[in-house]
Amino acid sequence: MSSNVTLNLKEHVSGPLGRIAVLASGSGTNLQALLDATACGTLEAEVVAVVSDRADAGALRRAAAVGVAAISLPLTDRHDPVVRQAYDCRLAEVLRAFEPDLIVLAGWMLILSPKFLDSFRGRIVNVHPALLPDGGGIEVLTSHGPLPALRGSRAVRDALKQRLPATGATVHYVTTAVDSGPVILREEVPVLPDDDEVRLHERIKSVEHRLLPRAVAMALATVFASNVEG
Ligand code: GRF
Repeated sequence: MSSNVTLNLKEHVSGPLGRIAVLASGSGTNLQALLDATACGTLEAEVVAVVSDRADAGALRRAAAVGVAAISLPLTDRHDPVVRQAYDCRLAEVLRAFEPDLIVLAGWMLILSPKFLDSFRGRIVNVHPALLPDGGGIEVLTSHGPLPALRGSRAVRDALKQRLPATGATVHYVTTAVDSGPVILREEVPVLPDDDEVRLHERIKSVEHRLLPRAVAMALATVFASNVEG
């Protein structure tokens, strides 16, 4: 899809605003990009709830500041499979109460269970701070040729560690294979000689903030189109 992709859902479907639920564990700058895009009308959608596994997440403060439901759902023991399963059930229950059309993982640090993913199939997207390939391979094609696809929570650090010339940002659908679902949008970010993890991550995030509202609009249009097709 071209970079001129419209964020105006009315061009795709007429009806109510798309309802977005955001899961975020951290500072919430990507959530803020969505809140800003919805507030200024460049993204015709509404953030209906923000859930965090961390009570002190900046994302919860950002949601509360604009009157969006901010729900803290701490996970007591991420290593106990029974606790973990119960957590995902509770999370699904909380989300369903808000009737979201789309769930956005914006800095969500927990891997979601297949059962959870299945109950929102095709309606969960994630923003990842590296370039991911179409079709889940181990390399991604860049302007420097093929480079390793960096998955997991250390993707920014790994780009520096592996001395890659470029990395990037990707928004993709979430599937059971971690950081491997179909790509919606991605953009390359050069790694500069004086980059450290913080500087590089900041530049990646500024790209994420631009990509995420566009990708969300595209994903919502797909959800609405599939609702119409029945
Ligand atoms: C982003 O870089 C995102 O790609 C990654 O976690 C970070 C979240 O940042 N999954 P923020 O909380 O949105 O500022």
